[in-house]
Amino acid sequence: MGHCPFSSLSLCCLFLLLTIVTPTHCYLISPPLLDLINSTCKECSDKSTDINYNFCVTSLQAIPASHVTNLQGIGLVAMELALKNATNTISTIEKMLSSKEFEPFAMDCLRDCLELYADAIAMLVDAFAAFLYKQFDAANIFMRTVMDATSTCDEGFTEKKRELTPLAKENNNLFQLSDISWCIIKQVSFVPSQLPNVSS
Ligand SMILES: *[C@@H]1O[C@H](CO)[C@@H](O)[C@H](O)[C@H]1NC(C)=O
Ligand SMILES: *[C@@H]1O[C@H](CO)[C@@H](O)[C@H](O)[C@H]1NC(C)=O
Repeated sequence: MGHCPFSSLSLCCLFLLLTIVTPTHCYLISPPLLDLINSTCKECSDKSTDINYNFCVTSLQAIPASHVTNLQGIGLVAMELALKNATNTISTIEKMLSSKEFEPFAMDCLRDCLELYADAIAMLVDAFAAFLYKQFDAANIFMRTVMDATSTCDEGFTEKKRELTPLAKENNNLFQLSDISWCIIKQVSFVPSQLPNVSS
């Protein structure tokens, strides 16, 4: 990732945010925030056939984020969820690789996916930093690259043999979370100077 200008800085921001966003075990989400999550998910699922409304609402409500009051905050939560997902999938792939349940062809695909996911994690961190610095175009390009990585992982399995990828669910989760993040970044970038603030 030598080309990336954000990495060390973004890692720092990321850890800062992780501590801000997940401070307690309080699962109270304020009604205005719920409204904003609802309307955001409605808009994103209307725009992309790949985004399922219920998946979006359920996902965005999962992280208790008492400091999140606006669309920008929801965007950060979406990217954080994507990052957690990708990180978890890395361990899933590592378990699969050591399970000896897969034939050599599938093992090769799994190794490719492991690399793709490692890159995806770096991209997510970069997207996160770009978003914080209001470099929305860059953030969106990073999110697109993450989405492409999940498709490439899928295709590795299905191209040669008509096998269903053992990572179908994981790929779909990360694809949707990235698509949701992409959609929110787009929305924020249209009105960067007047972010909706629902805390009254
Ligand atoms: C959000 O949407 C769900 C389902 O669409 C609905 O049941 C709920 O009342 C909505 N919440 C708010 C605060 O609008
Ligand atoms: C990935 O995210 C989805 C949606 O938020 C969630 O349902 C799923 O449990 C997550 N999976 C992992 C392995 O973190």
